Parts: sequence; C-alpha cells; structure tokens
Amino acid sequence: MTIDLAVVPVAGQGTRLLPATKSQPKEMLPVGRKPIVQYVVEELALSGIKRLLFITGASKTSIENHFDINGELIQYLRETGREDQLAELDFERQQMEYFYTRQRRPLGLGHAVLCARPLIMNQPFVVALGDSIIGLHAQSKIVQRLIEQFERSDDIKAVVAFEEVPREEVVRYGIAKPRGEVDDVFELEDLIEKPDIDEAPSNLAVAARYVFAPEIFDMLEQTPPGKAGEIQLTDAIRLLLRNGAKGIGVRLAPEERRYDIGNFESYFEAFVEFALADPLYGEGLHKHLQALLNSQRPV
Ligand code: G1P
Repeated sequence: MTIDLAVVPVAGQGTRLLPATKSQPKEMLPVGRKPIVQYVVEELALSGIKRLLFITGASKTSIENHFDINGELIQYLRETGREDQLAELDFERQQMEYFYTRQRRPLGLGHAVLCARPLIMNQPFVVALGDSIIGLHAQSKIVQRLIEQFERSDDIKAVVAFEEVPREEVVRYGIAKPRGEVDDVFELEDLIEKPDIDEAPSNLAVAARYVFAPEIFDMLEQTPPGKAGEIQLTDAIRLLLRNGAKGIGVRLAPEERRYDIGNFESYFEAFVEFALADPLYGEGLHKHLQALLNSQRPV
C-alpha cells in the first residue's frame, strides 16, 4: 500500500516573524493570495496524500478553521451571487481528512513529530514542515518522488529532500554527508543539524520534506536535546543511520525552489515572487514595481 499519510508540524512560535506572529500562526501568513499552509496541503494532495495530521500548538486554531467547511460563508456567497469568490473556497472540499493534536511543550521539531506516534503507530509516513513552500505556487511532486524511493527497499527507513544552498547558509539547516557520488538521488552517510561553515560536510540542506519508517519514533525517544536545547529530527535520523538503516537523499529540481518562511527576508521575497506570478495581478504589480524602482526613491 502506498503512503497516504502526512504529519505537518505547525507548532513553532514564529518568533523571528514578530510582531506579525504575535497572535496568529506564521503558517497562516499569506504568500500572494493564500496562507502558507494552504500551499503545503495542496502540494501534499498533488502527491497523493489523503490523511493529514497537524501537530499544532497554542494560538494555532485558525489553521483548523481554515481547513474546515464554512457553511455560513458559502451560503452568503451563494445568496449574493458571488460565484467567483465561492470558487476560492474549493480547497475546503478537497479529498483530505484532517486530524489535529497539540505539542504541549516547546521541545523542538523532533519532539513535535514524536507527538504523532500514538496515532501513526506502525505505518510509514511523510513529514512536511508547515512553514516551507516547495516550488512556485507549490507545483511540486517532491513528496511523490520521496515515496517512490522509500518503496524501493525495506532497508530504507528515511528519505529526505535536499536543496543546495550557498556555503554561508549551511548554519541554518540540517546538512547531508552523502555516501559516494551525489546525483539526483544519493545515499546518506550522516546528517548534521546547523553545522558551522567549516564543519559542514556538503552544501546539501534538508528541505522540509521527509518520508519515514515508524522506526524513527524509537530513535526520537532516544534522542537527547541537541542544537538550541531542542530534540532535533535531524539527530534522530542520524541515530537511525548509525543503527544500520539506509537513508536516501533526493535533490529538489531547479524549478522546485524552497520558500522557507522562517524570517522576514525570505517571507518578503516569497510574497513578491508569488504575487508577480499571479495570473490576475502579476502584470500590474510588475509595472508598479518597475515604476517604483525606476523612480529610485531613497530607501
Ligand atoms: C528545520 C530542521 C532543519 C531543516 C529546516 C528546513 O529547522 O531542523 O534540519 O533544514 O527545518 O527544512 P528550522 O527551520 O525549524 O530551524
């Protein structure tokens, strides 16, 4: 049976995006017309995911509301003849079952994934970080490619998406130590969470999408706090590899750029890029930006 279950951690506090995230989840910030997490869900649907477990935290209820069916709003739009606006709610009806559980203590990404254990038990599953969009307008099937690799052999217990990053950015990500040649698909020898530049074994950065065998839960149980005093998913994968499991890396294609909405710099860039590519508003914005830049206003 192919994997149709994904865990989407959305419990992070988004402190690097304050004050915007003081009382709303960073995953609900819009990029172009949609909130970030809607792109993540649409991407997962494209790869055949049918069941989705959000790991949420305090002040994240608007995520639940967003994926619920808002009967009152539908009725209002129908009664007032706003069919085009009604079409914007089509995503509510997409074939996806949603489940929610809370990470009650902020102990890190690894701990958030471990919160899924009682519900996932013995099934392989996808992890997709709720603050990263893959590809312009999330038109990526990276998760499907990860699942295909995972299903190649029973020895494979983890498959991870990677993106090449400039050397100075390795300090922000989990970094791969590949075994042998690096092609679009490669074997993982080791992984290091946010290494110093001179310690980084490559510039291949973990890109927010993973597939795991349920054995990852045992590793997470044994993983002590690491970087930032948090239980790191990267450290649990490392443990899995050290215990003889096989790990595979899959590189994102050049058009599958990762938009990591963790700080204002990358958030602004993503917003502008998505808005410029908007079929309705992109051209107008393009002209506006061009005029603005040509006027060379002092900044
Ligand atoms: C997390 C992971 C890191 C990964 C990154 C982007 O870090 O710990 O390994 O590279 O997401 O996918 P965070 O951005 O939560 O600090």
